[in-house]
Amino acid sequence: MTDLMNLIQERRSIRKYEDRPLSDQILQQLLDAVRWSPSWTNCQCWEVIVVKDAAAKEKLQASLPPKGNPASNAMVQAPVVLVMCAKAKVSGYYKNMASTKFGDWMMYDLGLATQNLCLTAHNLGLGTVVVGLFDHDKAAQAMQVPDGYELVTMIPVGYPAKVGSAPPRKETVAFTHYDKW
Ligand SMILES: Cc1cc2nc3c(=O)[nH]c(=O)nc-3n(C[C@H](O)[C@H](O)[C@H](O)COP(=O)(O)O)c2cc1C
Repeated sequence: MTDLMNLIQERRSIRKYEDRPLSDQILQQLLDAVRWSPSWTNCQCWEVIVVKDAAAKEKLQASLPPKGNPASNAMVQAPVVLVMCAKAKVSGYYKNMASTKFGDWMMYDLGLATQNLCLTAHNLGLGTVVVGLFDHDKAAQAMQVPDGYELVTMIPVGYPAKVGSAPPRKETVAFTHYDKW
């Protein structure tokens, strides 16, 4: 198996973190992983807010539902939360018009950047968890995200204190089609 395949298979969502800061050099590598991600017409619609301040992390945590998000503790335990935002209506757009039936492709671009980030973090011995279930408007207000931009996901990053087992995956035959559906 290639190193890349190992990284892909062994990356897990991490929801428990050590009390240990991240160096600026490591943070820079994570941001570089975002930087080199592909995007629609290379529009690079992503904006990343690096949150280290404890009070700010608590505000973000408060945007999660009171129960039912297993990443809640991770929001304050991890030394850094990377808040993934995007400029709206540029990805998938040409002359202010959506080019395809899917409209805004910012979620797609952010998804690619996020996986680059999470795999790079894993390669550096760090853990991440993508957090998508929360009140996006509340979190955006706490982060003072300007109009025309959306706060999409939040990613706690840090040294893993506990790595869970891999949730099962469908076999490839369950989703692969040849020559037609
Ligand atoms: C877009 C997206 C949103 C997610 N939102 C949450 C979340 O709000 N809370 C959480 O604990 N995990 C969240 N996850 C993590 C998934 O539950 C996890 O990736 C999945 O169960 C597979 O586990 P693995 O990442 O360890 O392989 C999210 C993942 C993605 C890709």
